[in-house]
Amino acid sequence: MHNRPRCMTGIKDLDLQMNGGIPVGSTVLLVGPSGAGKTTLCMQFLTNGAKMGEKGIFFTTIEPLFKIRKHFRGYEFFDETLIKTGRLSVIDLWTISDRLGLDSEEYTADDAYLLFDVLTEIAEELDAKRLVVDSITALCHRLQTKEMIRDFIFRLGATLAALKCTTILTSDVPPQTFRYSQYEIEEFIADGIIFLGDIERKGDLIRTLQIIKMRGTEHSRTKFAMNLSPKKGVELSPLLKS
Ligand SMILES: Nc1ncnc2c1ncn2[C@@H]1O[C@H](COP(=O)(O)OP(=O)(O)O)[C@@H](O)[C@H]1O
Ligand SMILES: [Mg+2]
Repeated sequence: MHNRPRCMTGIKDLDLQMNGGIPVGSTVLLVGPSGAGKTTLCMQFLTNGAKMGEKGIFFTTIEPLFKIRKHFRGYEFFDETLIKTGRLSVIDLWTISDRLGLDSEEYTADDAYLLFDVLTEIAEELDAKRLVVDSITALCHRLQTKEMIRDFIFRLGATLAALKCTTILTSDVPPQTFRYSQYEIEEFIADGIIFLGDIERKGDLIRTLQIIKMRGTEHSRTKFAMNLSPKKGVELSPLLKS
């Protein structure tokens, strides 16, 4: 029943909630407001994979490369030799887009296909098993219609799954929202949705994590309190109903 191969995130508390990990080849949407821990969770997923011998690519659309590296040096799980040895690649998606000569405001359908082809080529060439696009929100702003966004995400997911690549796409939502997507379509296309949020308690903002869906596996739907520590990265604990 549960023998579908798993892509262990290496975040023990999270893997436990889905019978060992994300089913290999899934496209997971990681949704949450700014500061929720999306980038951190993604980087931990990739570095843990790289340490287990699975190459990963982090495509960024929001932060410049030097900022990402500087930020993650503060975390114990991060290991820069993974980048130096090519097991982890951090790539600025906009640099690729510029080099392809694509418009920086709006993409045509052809532009979107070109970018898509290059993305999948890179994944294939580097023999990546894990891929992150952080975030798709900025990318979706350049795609003009819901159909284009739908098509892009769907193709990306399908192609990467054929390469046996497990993908996390992050998506930004305004704080205190309970929608899982900005465009109301990403969530239907994704195989899985992990929702990060905040709960205010006694003047403190507590980070939360909840698996909303994960095709191909049983999983908990419990809302956990999520801690981000420099030593361990993401940790989950029961949200005490005080
Ligand atoms: N070195 C660190 N150790 C622990 N927590 C950190 C560290 N650096 C940043 N943080 C926390 O991580 C948060 C940012 O997380 P991030 O993954 O960038 O969120 P998101 O991508 O959802 O905006 C910061 O608000 C801060 O609380
Ligand atoms: Mg981020």
